[in-house]
Amino acid sequence: MDLGLGGRGYLLTGASRGVGYATARALVDDGARVLVSSRSSESVDAAVASLGGAPAAFGLSADLASSGAADELVTTATAELGRVDGALVSVGGPRPGSVLDTDEADWRDAVDSVLLGTIRLVKALVPVLGEGAAIGLVLSTSVRQPIGHLAISNGLRPGLAMTAKALADELGPRGIRVFGLLPGTIATDRITDIEAASGEPAAMRARTEAGIPLRRVGRPEEFGKVAAFALSPAASYLTGVMIPVDGGITRSL
Ligand SMILES: NC(=O)c1ccc[n+]([C@@H]2O[C@H](COP(=O)([O-])OP(=O)(O)OC[C@H]3O[C@@H](n4cnc5c(N)ncnc54)[C@H](OP(=O)(O)O)[C@@H]3O)[C@@H](O)[C@H]2O)c1
Repeated sequence: MDLGLGGRGYLLTGASRGVGYATARALVDDGARVLVSSRSSESVDAAVASLGGAPAAFGLSADLASSGAADELVTTATAELGRVDGALVSVGGPRPGSVLDTDEADWRDAVDSVLLGTIRLVKALVPVLGEGAAIGLVLSTSVRQPIGHLAISNGLRPGLAMTAKALADELGPRGIRVFGLLPGTIATDRITDIEAASGEPAAMRARTEAGIPLRRVGRPEEFGKVAAFALSPAASYLTGVMIPVDGGITRSL
C-alpha cells in the first residue's frame, strides 16, 4: 500500500530516540521529510545523521517544558521542510512512583512538559497546517487503565486523550485529524530505565511479558510503523481515536 507520504513534512518531538525516533524512521523510509527534536543537541545531531541528514531529516534541540520551544519548533520546521503536514508529539515520560509517594514538584514538572508542552506545541502548529494534516499525541495505556508505578502518567494522560478528542472536533471541519497513540511496553531507553530502577530488571521484564497476550514487549519499529500510517494520507478518515500499540494488554476495547 502506498501511504502517500512522499514529499510530505512532519515535525516530531521527543524524537532523538525511543518511539519518536522510530516514527521518524518509518516516515523517512516511506519518503516523508522530518524535523526531529529533543533537549540534547548531540542526540538530535546523531538522530538526524542516522536518518540520512538533509534533505530527508533536519533537527532542532528544544525542551518542551520551556515556553518558547513551541514557536521555535514550528518556525524552524516550516523553514527547513517548506511544508508541515503534521506532527508526532512525544515528550519524555514522567517520573515513576505511586500517587502517595510522588512529590508535588514532580507533578508540576510533568504538567509543564507533558501537558502544557504538548498543548503549546499544538497551538503553535495549527496555524501552519492545511487540509489533510494530522497530529498524533504519544500517550499511554494509562489513558484506559492505571499503571501501578506511574501515578503521574495515570493522572495526566487521560486528560490529554480527551484534549485530543476535543481537538479532533475543533479541527475536523478544517480537514485536520488528531489522534492519540497508546504504547503498552515498547523496548526503549525509558523502559530500560524503569526496569533498572526497580532493582530487579529481568524479573520485572518477565512479569511484564507474562501479562501481555503476545507474551513479549514491543519493538520501537512496531510502534513507528503504526504511527507513520496514522499520520499518513492513507489514514485520511481516522480522527478522534486512541490507538493502542500494546500487544493486547489493554483490558478494555
Ligand atoms: N516506551 C514505552 O513503552 C512507553 C509506554 C507508555 C508511554 N510511553 C510514553 O511515550 C513517550 C516516549 O517514550 P520513549 O519510550 O520513546 O522514551 P525515551 O526512549 O526515553 O525517549 C524520550 C525522548 O524524548 C526526549 N525528551 C525527553 N524530555 C523532553 C523534553 N522535556 N522536551 C523535549 N524532548 C524531550 C528525549 O531526548 P532528550 O533526553 O535529548 O530530551 C528522547 O528523545 C513518553 O512520554 C513515555 O511516557 C512510552
